[in-house]
Amino acid sequence: MSKINGNQEIKTIEKRLQTLIQSQDSTLESAARHLLSSGGKRVRPLFVILSSHVGPDKANESAYRVATALELIHMATLVHDDVIDYSDKRRGSWTIEKKWDKPTAILTGNFLLARALEHLSFIEDARIHETLSYAITEVCRGELFQFQDQFRSNQSLTNYLRRINRKTALLIQLSTEVGAMTSGADDKTVRMMKQIGHYIGMSFQIIDDILDFTSSEEKLGKPVGSDLRNGHMTLPVLLEMRQNKDFKEKVSCLSSDAPTDLFIECIQQVRNSGAIEQSKMISAQYLNKALKQVALLPNEDLKPLFRKLIKRLQHRMR
Ligand code: IPE
Ligand code: IPE
Ligand code: MG
Ligand code: MG
Ligand code: MG
Repeated sequence: MSKINGNQEIKTIEKRLQTLIQSQDSTLESAARHLLSSGGKRVRPLFVILSSHVGPDKANESAYRVATALELIHMATLVHDDVIDYSDKRRGSWTIEKKWDKPTAILTGNFLLARALEHLSFIEDARIHETLSYAITEVCRGELFQFQDQFRSNQSLTNYLRRINRKTALLIQLSTEVGAMTSGADDKTVRMMKQIGHYIGMSFQIIDDILDFTSSEEKLGKPVGSDLRNGHMTLPVLLEMRQNKDFKEKVSCLSSDAPTDLFIECIQQVRNSGAIEQSKMISAQYLNKALKQVALLPNEDLKPLFRKLIKRLQHRMR
């Protein structure tokens, strides 16, 4: 198998992204370029390229198209998510809404999505288009369900897990699943790759939810402490409510017009609680499940690369 160089792969994807965001409309292009040049880990394209080495037809044109399109779809969800979450920072820079305005943000999200679809139109395999469309719909539902559950202190862990599966894990699952499909991998291998992506994706959002409590805006390049402020009950909050009655009572008093001090108190309490460590353990359990599946992959030389990428994600929590 040809050696995979992560940095080289990212450079190839980057070139495509730069070309794809060109537009006759200077506002759409500038807004998309602003987000693209602000940073980002490019995790999803990397997983696509890695997974596209699992079958016989490795790293072909379809793989690069899917990798690039998934980053564009991810960027579209980020732009819309920042409007939904009233965020003013993304990837260390102003959000599009903050730098331009809300209509520009909504339309730039749509533009990015359209460019992704255009780039995918070359691919003939209908399965790939169906799988992608399904996932995009589920991301919308995941973001929407967050509102039905907003400030709902009596929601179950299952509810939370179902929500993060939709809003985040599916897109990462798609990277490994569709990446494998492009290489002509057999159905069993594609299913394994899908499972690996699912576990990584679940862990990825749990880590993101922990970092919202434990990290800083400087490190993350986006606001912290904002999940609870927006009424999004994430894993650390749900776990702490299960073991601390006073905390649960406090959280049940939160609403969009609750006093800022009460939010600060609750956030501080989560930061200092055992729920952070418990959430880290749950996230690590998902990554371990992913690693177990990686060990069963038919392709020996892919395993260390997957392990390396998974370990890198785990280190984000520290
Ligand atoms: C942020 O995703 C949104 C989540 C699904 C948690 P990333 O952490 O991959 O964001 P970038 O692309 O690196 O900015
Ligand atoms: C990310 O959820 C989900 C999507 C982008 C669809 P968050 O709202 O937690 O993501 P960040 O923290 O703003 O990146
Ligand atoms: Mg959000
Ligand atoms: Mg957000
Ligand atoms: Mg977050």
